[in-house]
Amino acid sequence: MKTLLLVGIGAGDPDYITVQAIKALRRSDLILLMDKGPAKHKLNALRREICARFLDGHTPRFAEGLQPERERDAADYRASVDELNRDKQAVFEQLIDQQLADGETAALMVWGDPSLYDSSIRIAEAIAASRSDFAFEVIPGITSLQALTARHRIPLNSIGRAVEITTGRLLADGWPPGVDSVAVMLDAKDSYRRFVGQGLAIYWGAYVGTSDEILIAGPLDELAERIASTRAAARERNGWIMDSYLLRKEGAQE
Ligand SMILES: C[S@@+](CC[C@H](N)C(=O)[O-])C[C@H]1O[C@@H](n2cnc3c(N)ncnc32)[C@H](O)[C@@H]1O
Repeated sequence: MKTLLLVGIGAGDPDYITVQAIKALRRSDLILLMDKGPAKHKLNALRREICARFLDGHTPRFAEGLQPERERDAADYRASVDELNRDKQAVFEQLIDQQLADGETAALMVWGDPSLYDSSIRIAEAIAASRSDFAFEVIPGITSLQALTARHRIPLNSIGRAVEITTGRLLADGWPPGVDSVAVMLDAKDSYRRFVGQGLAIYWGAYVGTSDEILIAGPLDELAERIASTRAAARERNGWIMDSYLLRKEGAQE
């Protein structure tokens, strides 16, 4: 039997790592690294820092997979994600076949938590469905939304109300019905701008929990343009950006 641990490592600060995640990494023989794009170097450096700081002398092997890229602006978004996940599954299976011996355990250090806008659970499920010598476990981590609300010192929901967690792509279609708080991730196009003039507050954060962290909060009408220009400049400076935000109807009781 080969075991894969999907270990949530938190979304930025190495200190977000949980005791359970440290224990999981300490029982791993192999660490899989699967990041891509311009952020890869920084995010993998953080993963290695976590191992150096918390594994107490345990030295697992590292294996870096060549992460496939999704076709940008594909006409059929869902089909392009499905195809990407099939390609990622092939990379995972190759690493498991070639780098992991029977009886060994590998860990994938998942950014934030594996349940939130991350495909690793779906990929591990697909692998488990196709082979009998493979098992996987999930270890939760601190999500980027928890990091964001903690840094802004705000609750995620207003009293007794629902929150919608969504993407910039979906928010661009309009405000979700029935909620007064919307948490937005994966927004490459500043979708918050279309809600100026509607009495919303925004709590925005980029690279939250890291040394590059930027936080801006207050009335959206006053801050939308400042956030857009700050975001563009940070993206230019670093070559990549990782930001998320909470929009709340002003007057909603926190
Ligand atoms: C593919 S999702 C992964 C989310 C991750 N699994 C989690 O638990 O937060 C990546 C998105 O998460 C958000 N994100 C992740 N880390 C962040 C951070 N440190 N600061 C701000 N946003 C972050 C951004 O919206 C980014 O586009």
